[in-house]
Amino acid sequence: MTRLTDPAERGTALVTGATAGIGAEFARQLAARGMDLVLVARDEARLRASAAQLADRYGVAVDVLVADLTDAEQRATVETRLASSAVQVLVNNAGFGLPLEFDLNAVDDEVRQLDLLATVPLRLTHAVLPQMIERGSGTVITVASLAGYAPLTTYSAAKAWAVVFSRWASAYYRPAGVTITALAPGFVRTEFHERMEITRESMAPRWMWLDVEPLVRTALRDAERGRAVSIPSVRYKLLSLVMGAIPMGLVTANARRTRWSRRG
Ligand SMILES: NC(=O)c1ccc[n+]([C@@H]2O[C@H](COP(=O)([O-])OP(=O)(O)OC[C@H]3O[C@@H](n4cnc5c(N)ncnc54)[C@H](OP(=O)(O)O)[C@@H]3O)[C@@H](O)[C@H]2O)c1
Repeated sequence: MTRLTDPAERGTALVTGATAGIGAEFARQLAARGMDLVLVARDEARLRASAAQLADRYGVAVDVLVADLTDAEQRATVETRLASSAVQVLVNNAGFGLPLEFDLNAVDDEVRQLDLLATVPLRLTHAVLPQMIERGSGTVITVASLAGYAPLTTYSAAKAWAVVFSRWASAYYRPAGVTITALAPGFVRTEFHERMEITRESMAPRWMWLDVEPLVRTALRDAERGRAVSIPSVRYKLLSLVMGAIPMGLVTANARRTRWSRRG
């Protein structure tokens, strides 16, 4: 396990989707712990501005990799970086969501969503693991979602992959010194819903929304403790227990109701 708080183990962290929301906060908190960074996202100007700000504020080295991770060629530059130079922490964070109605969404958008939420973490983790295993230490955090605990949308199906993968890989690679953790938050105040053109008020009541600072602090602490899954906040830990206890038939019945009511 990488002891993220030990200055003797200062190293490099690569964060995908590092310009906004949860990824930007991971980058900030890892830099505050003295880690050098590689930031990945599509918007080059925003990436460079974030990099300059973090380097200036925390005195760490910050590189940028401009890449649309759903594009195989651009993603390959990130895989090469992970395979060819020491990276102690990988945060698979980049993601977006689509409207509920699978049949009405363009199939190419559905494939891009599945790629970004499942194929990309799979490929990047595969690229970084050999050096972590050789060194006997490393941390991989994949930002999943509490949505991955219930069959609600294609988004939740992709997030379920991240939870199940991390649970298995956590147990399998722990003896090699590599910590693998899925972060499974509920609703978080980021740009995520804005990008989907959904208002926060229409999604969930105010008390259900989490802030990125405590969320990421909890995720890093849970990864340091070797947890396979991190669910920040007591309210969502309780909700995850309730979700596990609800009969699956009730959950899927609710999914059907939501679907048809949206179509009027
Ligand atoms: N917000 C929530 O309520 C919530 C809840 C549970 C889980 N999550 C998960 O948390 C993760 C981060 O989301 P967020 O809420 O922080 O969203 P956000 O504020 O919209 O940030 C998304 C980040 O991902 C990058 N990104 C998007 N598409 C990309 C692509 N194709 N290639 C490379 N980078 C890309 C964006 O930068 P560019 O646009 O510059 O590429 C941005 O930096 C996602 O995996 C999301 O599913 C969010």
